[in-house]
Amino acid sequence: MKKVLTGTALAVAMAFGAGAASAEVKVGFMLPYSGTFAQLGEAIENGFKLYVQEQGGKLAGQEITYFRVDDESNPSKGPDNANRLIKRDQVDILVGTVHSGVAMALAKAATDSDTTLIIPNAGAGAITGPLCSKNVFRSSFSNWQPGYAMGAAAAEKGHKTAVTISWNYAAGKESTDGFKESFEKAGGKVVKHLTLPFPQVEFQPLLTEIAATKPDVVYTFFAGGGAVKFVQDYAAAGLRKDIELVGAGFLTDGTLKAQGESAQGLLTTLHYADGLNTERDNAFRENYKKNFPKLPPDVYAVQGYDAAQMLDAGLKAVGGDVAKKDQMRDAIRNATIDSPRGKFTLSKSGNPVQDMYLREVKGEDNVPVKVAVKALADPSVGCKMN
Ligand code: PHB
Repeated sequence: MKKVLTGTALAVAMAFGAGAASAEVKVGFMLPYSGTFAQLGEAIENGFKLYVQEQGGKLAGQEITYFRVDDESNPSKGPDNANRLIKRDQVDILVGTVHSGVAMALAKAATDSDTTLIIPNAGAGAITGPLCSKNVFRSSFSNWQPGYAMGAAAAEKGHKTAVTISWNYAAGKESTDGFKESFEKAGGKVVKHLTLPFPQVEFQPLLTEIAATKPDVVYTFFAGGGAVKFVQDYAAAGLRKDIELVGAGFLTDGTLKAQGESAQGLLTTLHYADGLNTERDNAFRENYKKNFPKLPPDVYAVQGYDAAQMLDAGLKAVGGDVAKKDQMRDAIRNATIDSPRGKFTLSKSGNPVQDMYLREVKGEDNVPVKVAVKALADPSVGCKMN
C-alpha cells in the first residue's frame, strides 16, 4: 500500500528530499571484541567515539550512528562478517580491522560494494600495495613501517646479527621483512626467522632456539595478549641480560600494566609514544583517560580517533552528503590529519606518511627517545590507483 505523507512527515520528507543529505551517517565497526586482540578493538572504538563526542556527536552536521561486528580476528569468517555490515546494516562507512588477514577480506568486500573503508590498524602491505583502491584508507601504518625503522635503529646500536620472531601470517612476515631490509642495508645479518601459528603463545621451544643461536638482538612482531606473554616469557627465560629484545612498538603498547617488570627498558619503534608532550596529544590523553579510565591512551586509541578525524575531513568537504563518494574520498586523501601522534598526510595509496619514534619502556610508558625516521612513507609497491 502506498503511504501518504501528511503534516510534519511531509515537511521532513521535503526538507530531506531528492539530492539533499540525509541526517545520519552509519558507521560499521568490524573489530575484534574477543580473543588476543580484544583490547585493541575496544581501544579503537573508544578512540573513534571520543573524537565524534568532542564534536558534539555529529560530523559535518550528520548524526553518527554505530553498528558493530566481532570479527574474532578470524580470516575465514571475514567475508560473512563484512557483509553483515555492508548488506544487512547498509552502513555508509566501514571501520576495521586489527588483523591483517581479516582486513584483506574486509577490503575486498568494501571494494566490491564500493563502500568507503578506513582501516584503524591492520598493516597488510597488499591493501595499500597491489590491491590499493580509491575507497580504502588507513589511519594506522603499514606493517613494513615500524619494522624498517627498528632495523635501522638496531644497526645504529652496533648490532650485527639478529633473529626475528613472529606469528606466521602477513603482519609478522611483513614486519620482520621490514626489519631485515634496513638492518641488512646497514651491514647487519638476520641469521634466523622463527614463527608460530597465530594466535599461539607456546614460545618455549623458540626461546630455547634463540638461546642456542645467540644473536646480538631479537626483533619481534607480537601484539595484544600474545605480546604480554612473549615479553614475560623472554624475561623469565633469562634472555634479557645477554640478547637485546626489540620490536615493532605493538610489543609494548597497551600491554605495560600486565608486563610490569619484564618490559622495563625495552626499545621499540612506532608512530606513537607516551608523553610526546604536545598540546594536541596532552588534550587527547586527558580526555581519553577521563572517558575510559580502565584503558591506557595507546596507539590503538589514537588510530581510532584519527579514523574519525579522516571521516570528518571527508564529510566536511561534501557538506555531510555521504553519497558524494568521489569528492569525499579525494578530500580524505588530501587531508592533513592533526593527530595526537603529530600531523600526518596520506600517500596516494591511502597510508599515513608519518614519523616513526624510537621509544623506551619506563614504568607504564613508552617514553620517546628520538624520531627514528622522519616522515616515513610506505613504498606501496604495486599500487596503481586509477
Ligand atoms: C596486523 O595483523 O596487521 C596487526 C595486528 C596487531 C597489531 C598490529 C598489526 O598490533
